[in-house]
Amino acid sequence: MLRRSAAKKNLIYGTTISAGQIAGDPPFVDLVLQQAGAVVAENDMKWRVMNRGARDEDNYRPADTVADFAHENDLTLRGHNLLWYQSTPSWFFDLSSRQEMAGAIVDRITALAGRYRGRVHSWDVVNEPIGPEDGRPDGLRTGVFLEMFGPDYLDLAYRTAREADPNARLVVNEYGLELDAPEQEARRAALLKLIERMQRANVPVDAVGIQAHLSCAGGPPFSAARLRRFLSQVAGLGLTIQITELDVTDENAPADQAVRDRLVADTYARFLDAALDEAAVKMVMTWGLSDRHSWIVRRETNESKWRVDSSPSRPLPFDADLKPKPAFEAIAQAFANAPERQPG
Ligand code: XIL
Repeated sequence: MLRRSAAKKNLIYGTTISAGQIAGDPPFVDLVLQQAGAVVAENDMKWRVMNRGARDEDNYRPADTVADFAHENDLTLRGHNLLWYQSTPSWFFDLSSRQEMAGAIVDRITALAGRYRGRVHSWDVVNEPIGPEDGRPDGLRTGVFLEMFGPDYLDLAYRTAREADPNARLVVNEYGLELDAPEQEARRAALLKLIERMQRANVPVDAVGIQAHLSCAGGPPFSAARLRRFLSQVAGLGLTIQITELDVTDENAPADQAVRDRLVADTYARFLDAALDEAAVKMVMTWGLSDRHSWIVRRETNESKWRVDSSPSRPLPFDADLKPKPAFEAIAQAFANAPERQPG
């Protein structure tokens, strides 16, 4: 059981879930309850998912289903996410002033984080704020929030979240931080700069979320030493670290299933061995538990991650029949190898 092997080291292990799965896939839910100590809504708490129509027509039902599921089963709940450039309702873009936009952001954060106040372990407050490719000296992603407020939109979001739920850990969640490539180095540098700026301005921020959407072959190399250095830089700023969306694509691996499963498992092992070496890493979430429910298998990722043959991807610790794969053993072993953390 991944939950138990993690807990022995005072680590939390968890997975995504959805209201649809909770209602419609009891065998999968049993597996989640057996393996996971934490859950996060894959999509049900995203702004545009909750609000597809007019401004005052939020639908909290799927989000409540996930929050209640966590509560009833004594699972740690991650909140994902309060603000994300990719999941902003369309009416937001039509607001005519900065002030109206600020009001909408404050309303959104106050309503959602306030609704689950005291029940959420950590909130991804702003998801994916980094974008050095946009060319700004501070490496922040441009877009509606940045254009209207400058970097201050982050201050507004984190301060509002702290007020709405003072006990939730406030996380900056980001992708493309894991590998040894110049683009990722630029993303790491920009993230560190952002955290330092927030701290100077007394903006509350508690943790960095490392998404870790990895690939088992092809792409830039992985350097354990480089990742370790970055994680210790984050820890040096006084923040904890969560691995928030771990999964492994196999788009460049051979078709042979056993070979592929081995490559995927080895990728989990290499990454987790390096990451868990840093004591500030307190939590590991995989972005799904079984290949039955994965955004990769559903081809919701960027097309470059799709397999070109017709065999479905096998990115997660359990296969589509809910049977454990080598990746499951690799994750369990990584937890067993991990140094014990301070409780809490
Ligand atoms: C993904 C979901 O898994 C998909 O179902 C959805 O179509 C798009 O979003 N980074 C994030 C997650 O922070 O919210 C994304 O989740 C994956 C990338």
